[in-house]
Amino acid sequence: MRLKYGGRDRSTTVADTIRGDLTAVARAHSNIALVKYWGKRDPALNTPATGSISVTLDALATDTRVSFDPSLAADQFHLDDRPEPASRVSALLDVVRSQAGLTLHARVNSTNNFPSSAGLASSASGFAALALAASRAAGLALTPRELSVLARRGSGSAARSVFGGYVEMHAGTAASGLDSFAEQLLPGADWPLSVVVAITEPQPKPVSSTAGMLGSATTSPFYPGWLETADRDLDTMRRAITERDFRTLGEEAEHSCLKLHSLMLTTRPALIYWNAGTMAAMHRVIRLREEGLPAYFTIDAGPQVKALCAPEDASAVAAELGAVPGVRQVRISALGPAAHLVDDMAPAEPGNP
Ligand code: DP6
Repeated sequence: MRLKYGGRDRSTTVADTIRGDLTAVARAHSNIALVKYWGKRDPALNTPATGSISVTLDALATDTRVSFDPSLAADQFHLDDRPEPASRVSALLDVVRSQAGLTLHARVNSTNNFPSSAGLASSASGFAALALAASRAAGLALTPRELSVLARRGSGSAARSVFGGYVEMHAGTAASGLDSFAEQLLPGADWPLSVVVAITEPQPKPVSSTAGMLGSATTSPFYPGWLETADRDLDTMRRAITERDFRTLGEEAEHSCLKLHSLMLTTRPALIYWNAGTMAAMHRVIRLREEGLPAYFTIDAGPQVKALCAPEDASAVAAELGAVPGVRQVRISALGPAAHLVDDMAPAEPGNP
């Protein structure tokens, strides 16, 4: 099948495409934001109100197979071998179909090698893998920037998972959303970092990020302050990464995390994602620093705690967090690669249904 670069090649008809195999499998890695995204500029195009900066995580990945199939009457979506509502998946497939001039429905199978929807950014890796697999299956070969714009339509954080290492998402200002994309700031190999993930609760979170952030924007009195301070946070984090300044990176990541959770706590109804294990793990990370083991925490819209540290300290930090009451599982991740095509899917996380 011919690949269409940067959009639809109008000389390619649907009949041409049907003769291709219409299937692609992609792998994308989750990411954790160091400067957080919380709030939308345009909910319809899913553009963020502010930029954000993240690191891509090698240990947490989603594999997704997309097959456009003339025999299907509707899109089908399976996550970890279980049928799921296809509406968010279909919305992204609609964008791909309109870019590729395709009307076929698709069968989508995804597996996560980590607990789904528990604050480990499964929507980031999931929509990045879906964007790459669906666009390739439909015969499109998008540039990384175009892929990031497409992945953003599924989930804001997914725009960042298109890239590996240290990544910045630009909020953009265009009504089209086309300048709202991520790009790599630094390859992970240029400044290795470890992320120790302490899982305190593997069950799905009660309020999705999408619903939560819409609520914060309309009800938290802190939202204007969140918007006002974003550029300063981004500048400081960008500089910390350029200068390989781990202490500033860590302090700013903790500040952005705590500012995000202040926003969540002051949303009506309140978004309280933490549990006792979350709190205990945060205090343990602070104490580790006092004891001379440099680590900093960050937490997304869920109860898991991620500790940032140097690779040589990762096993000590993991052992300490593993001993915290309420921490059920600990994983160590290096920085991960960009989303890429793979030959076949890896098996799902054994604990996933
Ligand atoms: C707390 O990207 O999941 O993880 O765009 O509505 O799908 P939608 O939201 P999503 O939100 C992520 C929020 C966060 C912070 C971050 O990753 O920047």
